[in-house]
Amino acid sequence: MLLSKILGLFSNDLSIDLGTANTIVLVKGKGIVINEPSVVAVQIGKGGRKKLLAVGKEAKEMLGKTPGDIEAIRPLKEGVIADFEITEKMIKYFIQKSHSRNNFIRPRVIICIPYGLTQVERKAVKESAMNAGARDVILVEEPKAAAIGAGLPIQDPKGNMVVDIGGGTTEIGVISLGGLVRSKSIRVGGDKFDQAIVDYVKKKFNLLIGDRTAEEVKIEIGTAVVPEKEMKMLIKGRDQVTGLLKSIEISSKETREAITEPLKDIAAAVREILEVVPPDLASDIVENGIVLTGGGALIRGLDSYLSKIVKLPVFVSEEPLLAVAKGTGRMLEEIELLQSISLHD
Ligand SMILES: Nc1ncnc2c1ncn2[C@@H]1O[C@H](COP(=O)(O)OP(=O)(O)OP(=O)(O)O)[C@@H](O)[C@H]1O
Ligand SMILES: [Mg+2]
Repeated sequence: MLLSKILGLFSNDLSIDLGTANTIVLVKGKGIVINEPSVVAVQIGKGGRKKLLAVGKEAKEMLGKTPGDIEAIRPLKEGVIADFEITEKMIKYFIQKSHSRNNFIRPRVIICIPYGLTQVERKAVKESAMNAGARDVILVEEPKAAAIGAGLPIQDPKGNMVVDIGGGTTEIGVISLGGLVRSKSIRVGGDKFDQAIVDYVKKKFNLLIGDRTAEEVKIEIGTAVVPEKEMKMLIKGRDQVTGLLKSIEISSKETREAITEPLKDIAAAVREILEVVPPDLASDIVENGIVLTGGGALIRGLDSYLSKIVKLPVFVSEEPLLAVAKGTGRMLEEIELLQSISLHD
C-alpha cells in the first residue's frame, strides 16, 4: 500500500491521444503537456535514410512547402497507420519530450488509438511506446475515450451515444456498462472536408489550392446549415488555365455546397447505427440525445444539421478537440475505470 503510494508519487504516467490530425499527451497529475499536429518532417539522406527534422506544429508549417530532400509526413491517415517508421519516431519523440529525465521510474502509457487499427498496427503502436521507455502500454478505443471525455456516464446500464469526428475518421459508438454495444467507423473526417473544398474550388473556379488553405476555409467560413449571416473569404491558388497565381473570393454558401457529400456520409452512418440500437438503449438516446466530439464537431451548425436528419437532440461537447484526450487522461487517474474499459489484447 505504502509502496504503491510512493510509486504513484514518483511515476509520471502518460496518456496519449494518438490522432490522425493531432496528438495530445497528458501527464498524470499535471494535465496536458503536449498538443501538436501529428506531423513529422524528415530529411531524406543517402540510401533513403530518414533523419528527423521537426515534429508537431513546426512540421505542419512545412506541409506542402518542402524542398526536394525534405518531406513533411502525416504518418496516420484515414485512421490507419500509413507510415510505420515515422509513426514510431513520432510516438517516441512525444513520449521522450513529456517524460521527465529526473524520473527514474519508467512511465506507464495509455494510448487511445483509432478504432479501426488492425492487430498488426496495434502491436506496432505498443512496441513504439515500449521502445521509447514505457514500462507498460495500455490501448483504449477512441469512442469510449471520447464518451468519457464528454462526461457521459458510460458505466451505467444506459445507452450513451457519441459521434467523434476527427481528422481521418468519424467513429460512432453506443456505450452501456462500459462496453461498446454498437459502433461504426467511417473514413470520413476533417480531411475529407478539406479535400471536398479543394475539389470544389478546382471545378468551379479552375483554381488549385492546397490542403492547408482548404482547412482554413472550412474553419473560417464552413457551415453545415444556413447561418444567420453568410460569410466570405479571399483565397489564393494557381489558375489551372493560365498557370498564374490568383486570388478569388469564396462564400460560406459555396463552402456549404462543397462539403455536402462528407456531411451526408456522416449523417448516413449515424442513421445506420440508430437503426440497429437495441430498443431499451434507444429510449435513453431519444431522451438524452447524441454528443459530438472531435475537431470536426466544430463545423458551424453541424449539431442542428444532424438533429434535423435523425430527429433527436444533438449536442457538441465542451472543448470537442480535447474530449478524447480528457477521457484518456481520466483513465490515468482512475484505474478502475481503465480496467473496466481497456482493450484486452
Ligand atoms: N473550428 C473548426 N471548425 C471545423 N473543423 C475544425 C475546427 N478546428 C479543427 N477542425 C478540424 O478538426 C480535425 C481534427 O480533429 P481532431 O484533433 O479531433 O482529430 P484527430 O483526433 O487527430 O483525428 P482522428 O480521431 O480521426 O484520428 C481537423 O480536420 C481540423 O481541420
Ligand atoms: Mg481523435
